[in-house]
Amino acid sequence: MTAVADRYAALVEAGELRPDADQERAVAVLHRLAERLAASTAKGSIVWRLAGRKEPPPPGAYLWGGVGRGKSMLMDLAFETIDHHPKRRVHFHEFMLEVHERLRAERVKEAGDPIPPVAKALAAEAKLLCFDEMVINNSADAMILSRLFSQLLEAGVTVITTSNRPPRDLYLGGLNRELFLPFIELVERELAVVPLNGPTDYRLERLGGLPTWHVPNGPETSRALSEAFFRLTDYPVEDRAKVPTEELQVPGGRVLHVPKSLKGVAVFSFRRLCGEPRGAPDYLTIARHFHTVIVVGIPKLGPENRNEAARFVTLIDALYEHKVKLLAAADAEPEALYVAGDGAFEFERTASRLIEMQSAEYMALGHGED
Ligand SMILES: Nc1ncnc2c1ncn2[C@@H]1O[C@H](COP(=O)(O)OP(=O)(O)O)[C@@H](O)[C@H]1O
Ligand SMILES: [Mg+2]
Repeated sequence: MTAVADRYAALVEAGELRPDADQERAVAVLHRLAERLAASTAKGSIVWRLAGRKEPPPPGAYLWGGVGRGKSMLMDLAFETIDHHPKRRVHFHEFMLEVHERLRAERVKEAGDPIPPVAKALAAEAKLLCFDEMVINNSADAMILSRLFSQLLEAGVTVITTSNRPPRDLYLGGLNRELFLPFIELVERELAVVPLNGPTDYRLERLGGLPTWHVPNGPETSRALSEAFFRLTDYPVEDRAKVPTEELQVPGGRVLHVPKSLKGVAVFSFRRLCGEPRGAPDYLTIARHFHTVIVVGIPKLGPENRNEAARFVTLIDALYEHKVKLLAAADAEPEALYVAGDGAFEFERTASRLIEMQSAEYMALGHGED
């Protein structure tokens, strides 16, 4: 098992990663964390336990910074290299949905406070928990996080998380924020808080200044978008036939098939997304789950496409609200996409959003931020 720092150094050496001072500091923290975990496991298993002494749980890490700074990349590197089982990597939003589901199931039992049994079960399932994209924007999450996390840490779970914000800015301006402050204190006390805020947005750099809205559909556009997908996901182009698919659970029980899903990037065809009876719950699920969405095959829409146009408006609203980055292949520029038909007037707002979504300012926003 190669250690975090060695893996990182090898990637820099191989030219796959550019040297980055913030990342090096973060790698050093993750490396020490891995070493402490290895040491505590060894001690815990023999001498320490015999002596009846419990090692304090190694602290976790909180990596925060702007888009494209390598937060997810470093967390994945740590997750892959740290030999501490069972371990789990999960998107923070998905995790919280699951937590609420489990809390509901506990409440049905009417056996008192539902948090301890849920924390206990989670701790039994993963001793290393990695969360990507921690963002708190609803009071239901805010109210339980402090207790849930203190019980997870108490149970010896190591937490590594990424976020666009420093802990003190989480849930800023949120309802009853004072009840959330203990969570911030917990994070600052128990986790190593590491900023990843170097000058380079590597995601943007990987897009290489390519346009994000490609016109028209065709082989050249397909090639450009496929190239963007592989660059964004670091996926070996030789393996392109094996890109994973995903079945996304939509609230209400529906399932949405994602033809290509990798590292928070999804590829959809316009037909699949807007040509079938889908609505806001589907699009919100996509917007929360992926930081970047590629939509191919957007046709020029006419009066006979009013349903598709209406769904497309809902889709773009969801993506825009969640600051999802959009790459698209279309037969017209946004302002010429839907000019005649029901809702064409309202579509102007969507066109203007689509234009804004191509701007450098928008591309630099963090996913899911308010
Ligand atoms: N030092 C680096 N040099 C080159 N590319 C990098 C470097 N760090 C990260 N990347 C790449 O930049 C892209 C964005 O990184 P990611 O970890 O997704 O950023 P974040 O999670 O901070 O938004 C990924 O493709 C990643 O592999
Ligand atoms: Mg990320």
